[in-house]
Amino acid sequence: MISPNGHGVAFPPDFLWGAATAAYQIEGGATEGGRTPSIWDTFSRTPGKVTGGHTGDVACDHYHRAPDDVKLMAELGLKSYRFSLAWPRIQPDGSGRLNSEGLDFYRRLVDDLLEHGIEPWVTLYHWDLPQALEDAGGWPVRDTAGRFAEYAELAHGALGDRVRYWTTLNEPWCSAFLGYGSGAHAPGRSDGADALRAAHHLMLGHGLAVQAMRAARPDDQLGITLNLYAISPQTDSPGDADAARRIDGLANRFFLDPVLRGQYPADVLRDLAEVSDFGHVRDGDLAVISTPLSVLGINYYSRYVVAAPDGGAPESYWRAPSNWPGSEGVRFVTRGAPVTDMNWEIDAPGLVEVLERVHREYPALPLYVTENGSAFVDTVVDGEVDDPDRLAYFDSHLRACHEAISAGVPLRGYFAWSLMDNFEWAWGYSKRFGMVYVDYESQLRIPKSSAKWYAGVIRQNGLGR
Ligand code: NOJ
Repeated sequence: MISPNGHGVAFPPDFLWGAATAAYQIEGGATEGGRTPSIWDTFSRTPGKVTGGHTGDVACDHYHRAPDDVKLMAELGLKSYRFSLAWPRIQPDGSGRLNSEGLDFYRRLVDDLLEHGIEPWVTLYHWDLPQALEDAGGWPVRDTAGRFAEYAELAHGALGDRVRYWTTLNEPWCSAFLGYGSGAHAPGRSDGADALRAAHHLMLGHGLAVQAMRAARPDDQLGITLNLYAISPQTDSPGDADAARRIDGLANRFFLDPVLRGQYPADVLRDLAEVSDFGHVRDGDLAVISTPLSVLGINYYSRYVVAAPDGGAPESYWRAPSNWPGSEGVRFVTRGAPVTDMNWEIDAPGLVEVLERVHREYPALPLYVTENGSAFVDTVVDGEVDDPDRLAYFDSHLRACHEAISAGVPLRGYFAWSLMDNFEWAWGYSKRFGMVYVDYESQLRIPKSSAKWYAGVIRQNGLGR
């Protein structure tokens, strides 16, 4: 099939083409095999937290359908599959012994992937903290970092002989700022100082986990996945430029700088001075947090356009920016560009910007786009789902990846979000990001036209040739 934008582009020979999911979003089997509740079980069962009162109790029932789902991945020709381990399935109490029944599920999944020639890419933490650890204080408490490192070391020990790619955390910004700042995500707490403590302990847990895994298997590809944004000021006024600096600081540099440079950005610490004195940061923490990585994962979805407080009513985003500590007064502006069903503006050039910026400003590391994709409303017609908007989104963002590679960025792979429709956190099942449609009543999977197109991209190792 010819790409909507015409001209052809070829990717490097070993480019890792994949698709991604996360445990709570697809597995279901919430009480099976010794799994205990995570903060997302508790949160989604709390009335008013998730659209429609939806929960991940059944989700895509992947817990029972993994073998068929792997077949589907093989049919699409995926070279790699990025998925997460449910911490409460593997270590139900959040500490101590591993649950062999939970591990077996992942052992079978990994074996099956390898048998189909699909490289498994494991994320250790995609937001489902065991409830027992939240009850003990959650991420704002320092001990949780140690708990995470222990879990990571044990999980890596159990699966490490078969898995080469390990991501510690997925989007710690969301865990900290949405989980403990705005309260839009589990565990639903709203305290700016706690959000900052959570961010620090997430990063500390990441560093400790990398050290433990590196010591056990030095050649593994170890990394973290950050959600990074292209950010622009609405105008070139000094006020708008300062708004852009603040939001870039909070959304991007607050994680990039500690993890890759071993320091918090000084301007952001100043912006946050009234929220926290950062007394929770101990000597030596930043050296642990900046333990060298082998790869960096980047999740990219959209751009933020921001402005100084004066001059019109604030626009609202679901990310509830007014609840980010330190973002007070910044206006998030919508420009009227086309948006997805999440109301996120579609901005493929922003992905080029993000990739080039990270490559330019931080130590040279192989980069992977570990997530990129879009929600649109899908309809089944005669058993088929045609999703031209999602297909065009993938097409434009893959062209952006190619542009970055041509400019010298060491981008080594791309994971579409998502393999299949799933539980979109606070939005429940009301938003569909999948390349494969899921009928939640029957659990039937229908590859959408974007999935068939993506299979062609992988086959050709490029677009529109
Ligand atoms: C980022 C998260 O990692 C993923 O879980 C989520 O579904 C997508 N973005 C879309 O919002």
